[in-house]
Amino acid sequence: MNVGFIGLGQMGAGMAVNLLRAGHEVTVYNRTPSRARPLVEQGARAAARVGDACRGDAVITMLADDAAVEEVVFGHDGVIGVLREGAIHVSMSTISVALSERLATAHADARHRFVAAPVFGRPEAAAAAKLFIVAAGAPDDVDACGALFEAMGQKTFMLGEVPKAANLVKLSGNFLIASVIEALGEALALVGKAGIDGRQYLDFLTATLFNVPVYKTYGGQIVERKFEPAGFAAPLGEKDIRLTLAAAETLRVPMPLASLLHDRLLTLLARGGDGLDWSAIGQLAAQDAGLGDGSRTAREPGNG
Ligand SMILES: NC(=O)c1ccc[n+]([C@@H]2O[C@H](COP(=O)([O-])OP(=O)(O)OC[C@H]3O[C@@H](n4cnc5c(N)ncnc54)[C@H](OP(=O)(O)O)[C@@H]3O)[C@@H](O)[C@H]2O)c1
Repeated sequence: MNVGFIGLGQMGAGMAVNLLRAGHEVTVYNRTPSRARPLVEQGARAAARVGDACRGDAVITMLADDAAVEEVVFGHDGVIGVLREGAIHVSMSTISVALSERLATAHADARHRFVAAPVFGRPEAAAAAKLFIVAAGAPDDVDACGALFEAMGQKTFMLGEVPKAANLVKLSGNFLIASVIEALGEALALVGKAGIDGRQYLDFLTATLFNVPVYKTYGGQIVERKFEPAGFAAPLGEKDIRLTLAAAETLRVPMPLASLLHDRLLTLLARGGDGLDWSAIGQLAAQDAGLGDGSRTAREPGNG
C-alpha cells in the first residue's frame, strides 16, 4: 500500500520500519524532522508537512496524546483537510474515547474511512513486529488494513464496528497493567522489608502462578530499579489512567483503584519522574515503607 506514517517516536519508528520491510511505500512525517532521517535511509519518503503524508491509500497516526492527534488531524494542513475521499485514517495512538468518537464523526463527514487500532506491546515489540493490535471500525475498512497490521503486529483482534470500542479496550488494558505494577510494588515492599531477596521472590512468583510477561517484565524492572531509558514514559502512563477515569466517568463506572493509580503516577511526576518508565510507581510502596529509594532490603546497612 501507499501509506503515510505520522509520529516517529519510540513506537512509531519501529512500526514504520516494519511497513517498509514488508514492501509498502511509506511516507513519514515527524514534528521533529531529524527523527525521520533513519527511516529515509531505509527507503521512506520524507514529508515536510503533515499534508504531504496524507496523499496515499491510508495514513497512520502514532502520536503521544490527544493534543498531538488533534493538532495533526484538525490543525492547519491536517489529515482531515488533505486525505482524499475513501482513504483510511488508522489511529494507533492511545487516545481518549471522546477523541476517537470525534475523529469517527469528522472522517465520516469528509467521506474518509476511519479505523481505531491501538496496540499492546512496548517499543521492543514494535521494532520486532510483535505488537498486539486491537482494531475496530467497519469490517471492510479493517480488512483493508490487514496487510498493514500483518507487517506491524503478531496478531490483530477485531473489537467490533464502533472505533471508540478499541480505544476503551486499550485503556482498560493499561489500567490492568498499572494495577499489576502497583500490586508488585506493594508485595515487593512487604517481603523486602522482612529481608527477603526481591529477585528470588520474583523468580518464585513467575515460575508458579504468575508466569506471564506482564509480571516478568515489570517485576524485573522494579527489582532491578531499571526505570531508564523509559520504554513507556511516566507522563504517557499518567495520561492513560486519566483517560481511563474520564471514560469511566462518562459511563458512570466508579474505579477506585484507577483513582489510586492516578495519584501514584502524579506522585511520581511531582517528584521529577517525567523521564522515568511508568513502572517507577512500583518503587513508591517501598519508599512509603521506609525502604529509602526502594532498592535495599531491611537487612542491609542503613535500613535498620
Ligand atoms: N511506549 C510504549 O510502550 C507504548 C505502548 C503502547 C502504546 N503506546 C502509545 O503509543 C503512542 C506513542 O507512544 P511513544 O512511546 O512512541 O511516544 P513518544 O516516543 O513520546 O513519541 C511521541 C510522538 O508524538 C509526537 N508528538 C507529540 N506531540 C506532538 C504534537 N503536538 N504535534 C505533533 N507531533 C507530536 C512526537 O514528535 P516529536 O518527535 O517531535 O516529539 C513523537 O513522534 C502513545 O499514545 C502511547 O500511549 C506506547
